[in-house]
Amino acid sequence: PEQKLWGGRFTGETDPLMHLYNGSLSYDQKMYDADLDNSKYYTEGLLKVGLLTPEELSEIHRGLEVIRGEWTSDSFVEKDGDEDIHTANERRLGEIIGRHIAGKVHTGRSRNDQVATDMRIYCRNALTKLQKILTDLIGAILQRSETEIDVLMPGYTHLQRAQPIRWSHWLNLYATYFVEDFKRLRQIKERLNVSPLGCGALAGHPYGIDREYIAGKLGFDDCIGNSLQAVSDRDFVVEILFWCSLFMNHVSRFSEDLILYSTAEFGFVKLSDAYSTGSSLMPQKKNPDSLELLRGKSGRVFGSLSWFMMSLKSIPSTYNKDMQEDKEPLFDALVTVEHSILISTGVISTLSINKENMFNALTMDMLATDLADYLVRKGVPFRETHHISGEAVSKAEKLKLSGIDQLSVAQYKEIDARFGDDVVDVFDFEVSVERRTATGGTAKCAVLKQIQKLKNKI
Ligand code: ARG
Repeated sequence: PEQKLWGGRFTGETDPLMHLYNGSLSYDQKMYDADLDNSKYYTEGLLKVGLLTPEELSEIHRGLEVIRGEWTSDSFVEKDGDEDIHTANERRLGEIIGRHIAGKVHTGRSRNDQVATDMRIYCRNALTKLQKILTDLIGAILQRSETEIDVLMPGYTHLQRAQPIRWSHWLNLYATYFVEDFKRLRQIKERLNVSPLGCGALAGHPYGIDREYIAGKLGFDDCIGNSLQAVSDRDFVVEILFWCSLFMNHVSRFSEDLILYSTAEFGFVKLSDAYSTGSSLMPQKKNPDSLELLRGKSGRVFGSLSWFMMSLKSIPSTYNKDMQEDKEPLFDALVTVEHSILISTGVISTLSINKENMFNALTMDMLATDLADYLVRKGVPFRETHHISGEAVSKAEKLKLSGIDQLSVAQYKEIDARFGDDVVDVFDFEVSVERRTATGGTAKCAVLKQIQKLKNKI
């Protein structure tokens, strides 16, 4: 039987199911690159303290590159005894360069500082990838926002028609969320980019290895200052899972809006065929499955966050095998988010809008606030104007008119003598929108300013 790397003190065999239960190679082989770099620079550190000769180091480096080639070309042959990516790579290195030299690689290193280091490298690269595709998503939204700046639509509160806004203003809402997500990614990356390597199993390194040197070579900004924390901290995994969850929360709300807007009842947007599916029974159906999955998969990602929080919460210091349970929820969330970003970008850049339907959904009652503001400009306190405008709404309703714009100037004067002939100017959606010029508002100049600001942030 295969000799386990840690098998020296063991006389009995591992139970076969326990072997499977214990192993993580099926999912942690994703980290092969990080693990090989880890060994590459760790052994440079060993050379510096005289634990390897230059000849041994170059043999080790040669072997590591052979292994990298095998993983990259999908020809790495896993063996029964391989438990995880670390033991698999070490076993293979021994086969390539001989166990005598390969056996020196792990001097002073434990899989505890090794896996913590690999995870941080893997996460750093994964977040960089997310930043890139998230930038594309934001770019796609802002592009629409710019070209469709003149389109008006109803803005909603409580899903009731509230006030007219620009379609671009709605787009910018999500661009703003995603820019905040982008900034958070940057902050998380900064926090996680510190090296645990050279802390051993928990107590530190017995050969005075230059941790700072190795950290620098591996692209870390600093070394973790406490060896116990170095091997047992997985807060960065939790932070990423929370990030993924919050991001999916934004995606889910974005999707929910678009699902509604794509119904016949709204008819504001139409998804491209590329992101829709049909019904097996009803030939007329075109379903927004992409958006429903974006909304649905948010639940899966939230699950990953609570899954790992539960696994982490009562682990005593320092490394315990429970920590191996960080990988599956993390990797699953990262893949789900990556695909969700790409699908969102596809959906938003290929859907078509129906600006007539958007405009026709605007109703005159949505200008009741503007009517109140009209009297405010004549010096009437807002609380009073709110009431007066409400009277106009109710009067129009009582007279079965189609809207407050149908009341005559005389009827307005009956409601309140301070109404003038110019009250008719209120009943224009464009005018209403264009009044909201203060920063963050829906007037054209304010929306364009937002687009510029958002662009500058990414
Ligand atoms: N596969 C393990 C993990 O992911 C590596 C660390 C194992 N360390 C140990 N002391 N058993 O956590």
